[in-house]
Amino acid sequence: MRNKKAVAILVSGGGSNMVALVDSMLNDPDHPGRPCLVLSNNADAGGLKRAAERGVATAVVDHRPFGSDRAAFEAELVKPILEAGADVVCLAGFMRVLTAGFVSQFEGRMLNIHPSLLPKYKGLHTHARALEAGDARHGCTVHEVTPLLDDGPILGQAEVPVLEGDTPDDLAARVLEQEHRLYPAVLARYLRGERSVLHLG
Ligand code: GAR
Repeated sequence: MRNKKAVAILVSGGGSNMVALVDSMLNDPDHPGRPCLVLSNNADAGGLKRAAERGVATAVVDHRPFGSDRAAFEAELVKPILEAGADVVCLAGFMRVLTAGFVSQFEGRMLNIHPSLLPKYKGLHTHARALEAGDARHGCTVHEVTPLLDDGPILGQAEVPVLEGDTPDDLAARVLEQEHRLYPAVLARYLRGERSVLHLG
């Protein structure tokens, strides 16, 4: 397909969601997107090596030298994204909170995946919180990013059962499998202009 949209993916860790996104784009000639950059705040992020192995450009902007000055960090973070000509930005296990100033530059063009059935359990420790609450169902959500944390229009959700005796790690692994189905499916729809909510069982 010609005129593919350029997709930048931001990761902090292992990058399994990033790999699912990149592979979905590289393996489908008719995909409306192409990966233009994998960017991390962490030079040790496993996702960087996995991106490079796939021939995707990578960059690192370490947040630590900026201390609590988020705006200064973000002023550097945005540079490789703009240089790569990104049309859309996907957060995929990116563990830095972004300010309204950064988010507004990509309004309507930035997605995030969160490991809970939003609006439940914004923030961290989502699997432990679902277990603590005695939920029978748990899952993950892809949403458009707005300045509020783990907020913004929901584009897709996938559910899993919570099973007797589950630990947070058991639940995390079950949800992660669904993340790898959900995020590529939502991204492809999003790039084609589809905004209705996708539900995966
Ligand atoms: C995923 O479960 C993702 O949903 C979660 O971190 C994990 C990253 O895994 N994201 C958040 O908690 C964002 N607040 P990955 O690096 O293997 O994709």
